[in-house]
Amino acid sequence: MDQISSQAAAQAAATPGTVATPAAGLEPAAPAAAVSGDGQAEVLLDARNLKKYFPIYGGILRRVVGQVYAVDDVSLQIYRGETFGLVGESGCGKTTFGRTVIRLEKATAGSVSLDGQDVLALNDRDLRRMRRRMQIIFQDPYGSLNPRMPVSDIIGEGLLAQADAENQWGKRSVRDKRVGDYLEAVGLRREYSRRYPHEFSGGQRQRIGIARALALDPEFVVCDEPVSALDVSIQSQILNVLSELRREFHLTLLFIAHNLSVVQYFCQRVGVMYLGTLVEVASVEQLYATPRHPYTVALLSAIPLPDPRIRKKRLVLKGDVPSPANPPSGCRFHTRCWLYEKLGRPENCVTVEPALRDVGGGQQAACHYAEYVNPSAVQEATAAQDAVATAAAD
Ligand SMILES: Nc1ncnc2c1ncn2[C@@H]1O[C@H](COP(=O)(O)OP(=O)(O)OP(=O)(O)O)[C@@H](O)[C@H]1O
Ligand code: SF4
Ligand SMILES: [Mg+2]
Repeated sequence: MDQISSQAAAQAAATPGTVATPAAGLEPAAPAAAVSGDGQAEVLLDARNLKKYFPIYGGILRRVVGQVYAVDDVSLQIYRGETFGLVGESGCGKTTFGRTVIRLEKATAGSVSLDGQDVLALNDRDLRRMRRRMQIIFQDPYGSLNPRMPVSDIIGEGLLAQADAENQWGKRSVRDKRVGDYLEAVGLRREYSRRYPHEFSGGQRQRIGIARALALDPEFVVCDEPVSALDVSIQSQILNVLSELRREFHLTLLFIAHNLSVVQYFCQRVGVMYLGTLVEVASVEQLYATPRHPYTVALLSAIPLPDPRIRKKRLVLKGDVPSPANPPSGCRFHTRCWLYEKLGRPENCVTVEPALRDVGGGQQAACHYAEYVNPSAVQEATAAQDAVATAAAD
C-alpha cells in the first residue's frame, strides 16, 4: 500500500476550470465488486434494521418530548469493491446512516457488520482497531480540518492512534514518510505537510481530508458529499482522484450525494432514501432506465439536462418534506406521491408501510404499486400536473 502510483497524482494535478459539470469530466470506469468462490458478490458491510433516533428536548426541564426518526429501520448490504451511492433530499438521513454504520453515532437499534464482525458490539479497544478499516471523508473541507494543526499532524494523528510494532507509525520519521506519500497520492506536494489548513484552497483541503482517511489503509470509506461544498470546476478533479484511489487501494465506498448525475457515473448501485427509510435499491443502469419507486421517478425528472436547448418535463412533488419527527402513516411518501393520486388514493398507502421488496432483476422498491410505475404512468402524471398548472394560470 505504500506504493502510491503517480497516475493518481497526475490526475489530481489536472488543470482547473476546464470542466462545466462534475459528471462531464468524470471517468465512468468503475471497479467490479469482488465475487466469492460460489459466484456471489461478497458482502462487506451488512446493516440490518438499523435505527438512529435523536431525542427532541423541550420545556423548562429540558425533558425528552419526541424523537427525530433520522434512520428508521434501514437494511442494506454493500459488496466488497463496489461504490454504493446514497441519495435523497436534504434531511432524509443519509449522513446519519453513514455515521451510524461506522459508529460515529450510537445506533438506537439494529445491527451492523463489517466483513462479518459485529461493529456495534465492539469494545473500545476493538473499536479503535476497527477504525483503521472504516473511515470517513467529510462534506465540509473547511470545518473538518483543525485550523491549529499542520497537515503533518492532521494526517499523522490517526496514524499515531493506530501505531503498533508492525507498522512503526509511532516513529515520527515513518509517520512523516507516510504523510508525504499520501499527500502525493492525492496530488499535493510532500512539502505541504508543514502548512496549515488556511493556506489551502477548498479543493486542496478536501484532498487532505482524503489523504487523512486513506493513510490508515481502510477497506470501507464513507464519502459524505465529498464534493458538494466545492466549485463545480474542482468537483470533477476531486472525483477523479477518488476514482483512481478506489481502484488502486481496492476500496469499498458508501458515496453520499445530492447530485444524481454524479452518482450515475461514479457508483455501481444506488439506494434512495426518503424520510429515514430506504425506498429503492438498484444498479445504476436499472435505476436510471427503469426507476420503480414514484419518489425516484420524481428525483430523476428533476435532473437538469446538460443541453439547455432540450426541455424536459419535470414531475414536481407537491408540498414540503414532512417532519422526520412525525412521519406520515403507512407509506411515508403518500402525502406527496403522484402515483397514489393517479391510482385514486388506495387505502393501504395510508395504513400499511410498504416493505422494501424485490421487483425483478435484484431491484428493490418499497411501494405497494411499484409494478404500476412505468413510462406511460409517468407521462400521464406529468401531463396531469401540466393541466392543473395551466388551469391555475388561466
Ligand atoms: N445530532 C443531531 N441531533 C438531532 N437531530 C439530528 C442530528 N443529526 C441529524 N439530525 C436530524 O436527523 C435528520 C437526518 O439528518 P441527516 O443529516 O442525516 O440528513 P441528510 O440526508 O444527510 O441531509 P443533507 O443532505 O442536508 O446533508 C434531520 O432531520 C436532522 O435534523
Ligand atoms: S405505496 Fe402508495 S403512496 Fe407509497 S409510493 Fe407506492 S403508490 Fe405512492
Ligand atoms: Mg448529510
